Amino acid sequence: MRDLIEADLRHLWHPFTHHGLWGGPDDPVVVIERAEGNELVDTEGRRYLDAISSLWCNTLGHRVPAIDDAIRAQLERVAHSTLLGLSSRPAIELAAKLAALCPGDLERVFFTDAGATAVEVALKIAVQRARLVEGDATPRRHLLALDDAYHGDTMGAVSLGFSPGFHRAFEHLAFPVGRLPRDVDGAIAAIRAAGAELCAVVLEPLVQGAAGMLVQPPGFLAAVAEATRAAGALLICDEVATGFWRTGRRFACEHEGVVPDLLCLAKGLTGGYLPLAATVVTPAVFEPFATGRADGARTLFHGHTYTGNALGCAAALAAVDELERLAARGRVAALEQRLARALAPLADHPHVLEVRRRGFMVGVELVADKEGPRRFARAQRVGHKVAHHGRDHGVLLRPLGDVMVLMPPFSFSDEEVERAVAAVQRGIDAICPEAARTTA
Ligand SMILES: Cc1ncc(COP(=O)(O)O)c(C=O)c1O
Repeated sequence: MRDLIEADLRHLWHPFTHHGLWGGPDDPVVVIERAEGNELVDTEGRRYLDAISSLWCNTLGHRVPAIDDAIRAQLERVAHSTLLGLSSRPAIELAAKLAALCPGDLERVFFTDAGATAVEVALKIAVQRARLVEGDATPRRHLLALDDAYHGDTMGAVSLGFSPGFHRAFEHLAFPVGRLPRDVDGAIAAIRAAGAELCAVVLEPLVQGAAGMLVQPPGFLAAVAEATRAAGALLICDEVATGFWRTGRRFACEHEGVVPDLLCLAKGLTGGYLPLAATVVTPAVFEPFATGRADGARTLFHGHTYTGNALGCAAALAAVDELERLAARGRVAALEQRLARALAPLADHPHVLEVRRRGFMVGVELVADKEGPRRFARAQRVGHKVAHHGRDHGVLLRPLGDVMVLMPPFSFSDEEVERAVAAVQRGIDAICPEAARTTA
């Protein structure tokens, strides 16, 4: 065990981690070795209820028999073959399945391997399509993304979600992206102002996850979709976090009857088993790439070695079926109600400014005092400490700043939902009063 930790400290570079703190008293290294159902088990045998679905992707928990079996069966055939110049059975079957499940006429699927790359390819499709349709001199070059957008960490995605606090070092590499305000009138005004120069609007529909589980006002998505269409631009919905029933419906856009031109999926696609993502587009988006002369201009020059990986697609086929079965049995709706009931008392807690929830995406915002509100000093790392308290008591949490996130898998029992919420409450009680006394 000590050897493993020493090797971690010597060789691993963890994402979004300050390595001056990693391994210290506030950030002890926990090494996960296996899982059972909804719990992860570390090398010491300690168990952690995975209340964040391992960063929002293990929608069905861990070691799901149907997904395990599908991967084993695929291993007996072939683990990977390229989609460049060849096709593959699981990739075809998954593309057809997604076409059947996605709203409207979203039916053409480009596979990549992460949420960021799903967005990256969507951007490139939109930009290249504008040139194909309107010619190289097209003014449609302008992109709009929401305030505090997060779409991943490749440079295109960073440009969409540019934040001086995080990305200053890359400022000279990021391309300009206009900001879409979060209120309906402001958003419509920004879209109208861009007019014929607008290439695409990119947004997370209904809930901005990484921004702190910010829930959009009802009608916002539909209004943005309508204004985008009126401007002759494309709507790219990033459902990397919201897709696959996370908001209580299969896709968040369905809440407002919106069919985007491009839809980005990842995280829950394989039930969190393997890195696979999909960018699904309508025939109108795809056709300019498939008509006219067979020259380079109409080829989408994008691809990854593991595009359409067979094991990933096999896992996704099983995960999507499993989740559809749960939803059809009413378990998704029942669990959502249970979660809402368990969370209700937290809203009155003196250190909880707001409980934001849409479906299974939950953000509990912590404050030193509701009056003001008075926030904790950033250096106090209150969210981090509450999460650690949860972990020390057997529930895995990960905050966004001082917003405690819950994103339970659909495989949670009612009792596990209550355990997860209770862990947040106990963590707040243990950490916040003292932190509020000492905050500046
Ligand atoms: C909405 C959204 N888009 C994109 C991403 C990036 O996904 P990945 O980490 O798989 O690149 C995330 C990750 O949290 C996300 O929440």
